[in-house]
Amino acid sequence: MELNTIERDDIGAAAEDLVVPPAATRKVFVKTYGCQMNVYDSQRMTDALATDGYAATDAIGEADLVLLNTCHIREKAAEKVYSELGRIRELKAERAKAGREMLVGVAGCVAQAEGAEIIRRSPAVDLVIGPQTYHRLPAVLAKARSGEKIVETDYAVEDKFEHLPQPKRAELIRRAVTAFLTVQEGCDKFCTFCVVPYTRGSEVSRPVAQIVAEAERLADAGVREVTLLGQNVNAWHGRGEDSEEWGLGRLLFRLAEIPGLARLRYTTSHPRDMDDELIAAHRDLPALMPYLHLPVQSGSDRILKAMNRRHMAKDYLTLIDRIRAARNDIALSGDFIVGFPGETEADFEATMQLVEDVNYASAFSFKYSPRPGTPGAEMNDQVPEAVKDERLQRLQALLLKQQQHFGASLVGKTIDTLIEKPGRQAGQKVGRSPWLQPVIVDEKAGEIGDIIRVRITKTGYNSLFAELA
Ligand code: SAH
Ligand code: SF4
Ligand code: F3S
Repeated sequence: MELNTIERDDIGAAAEDLVVPPAATRKVFVKTYGCQMNVYDSQRMTDALATDGYAATDAIGEADLVLLNTCHIREKAAEKVYSELGRIRELKAERAKAGREMLVGVAGCVAQAEGAEIIRRSPAVDLVIGPQTYHRLPAVLAKARSGEKIVETDYAVEDKFEHLPQPKRAELIRRAVTAFLTVQEGCDKFCTFCVVPYTRGSEVSRPVAQIVAEAERLADAGVREVTLLGQNVNAWHGRGEDSEEWGLGRLLFRLAEIPGLARLRYTTSHPRDMDDELIAAHRDLPALMPYLHLPVQSGSDRILKAMNRRHMAKDYLTLIDRIRAARNDIALSGDFIVGFPGETEADFEATMQLVEDVNYASAFSFKYSPRPGTPGAEMNDQVPEAVKDERLQRLQALLLKQQQHFGASLVGKTIDTLIEKPGRQAGQKVGRSPWLQPVIVDEKAGEIGDIIRVRITKTGYNSLFAELA
């Protein structure tokens, strides 16, 4: 079906009757689903739209453009988008009655995976744009404003980062003292449950100079903590300033030299790509925070093999030992899937055992969700929903217990905290521990952006309370 021929609107008013607001008075409402990379992408899209005359708004009712940056990782995530589009369709109809146009865009991983299908299912959608093409947003919007329906999901030959505008320093200063920075994108691993290799494309590393320049701009605007992002961030590689091939470890050492940048993190890593240099960075680089998100998914070798993770449970445990030997206060976090096809009670017990062996500071766990186009969805022995539910409950109870133990083990200790923002309650500020927990302090303990020494007094559900040391 030729997309441009799809009827522009099924909601009453003809497109040509609607007032297209002039640039500089237009507003965009962006809603973000999914992972940190989507958060980063939403920011970059907002910046690109700012140069196209769209100011960001938090009020969907006043938006001339509603942009959903979507996630396809599990069925629930993808379906959320369609229920949101149902609500937006009504809003669009109301706006049309009032004589004003509202464009609706779908970006991100659902856009990449489903393309034109989104417009078929939700005719209120005007444009669909993928994660590798969003630098073309201003051009796509120009067409959409003149009444075309656009699907822009072909992988671009050009590097989007070369074409995206950088926000002004004054704008960056207004933002947070922590920031994300994508250094690597896409995935070549093809785990049999996962859509990411299809939605984000193959692995690409951004060049060193681009990354350093972006980190310097952030630091210059007061950012104290940068989290490097990648679907397989530890597979990042590139030609360094010394013309040698660098891995993520070398890159972290380089970024630690930037004045003002006090804290570095990276996520998400694959166990297969943790090399010696990266482990050495955890040993030698004080700016690298002692917290590592290292998903394993399962503790059963049989299931790991069926998932195409390409390592065994004992490889993961050995790796954790090496990382802990390099940095003994490192806290570990992971991702788990329960109910992958063929998972028996014994396989699940192996996962529980691995969790006992590692002792996580935090973790994310999910019921397996069969995804269209992935090998897992075609496998026999899909696990019944009730079994998945029951296993997830057992796993989450164990993980929660470990997380609470970890929090409790910090009470009485003196730690560094980066003050990030005002607290929800008057008189408080919220900081961040080296292990990513929110730390509640008195508002007079320091200014936003300060790193202060605090003593942990007690734990909350997911946070720590502290006083100046
Ligand atoms: N690149 C990361 C993970 C990205 S997706 C890695 O390799 O670990 C984030 C998490 O979502 C995964 O770690 C996995 O636990 C979960 N996930 C991915 N696909 C899933 C699916 N089909 N069903 C349930 N959980 C899934
Ligand atoms: Fe998905 Fe596996 Fe790639 Fe992670 S490594 S993004 S889980 S395919
Ligand atoms: Fe979701 Fe895409 Fe991130 S599928 S988890 S938004 S890479």
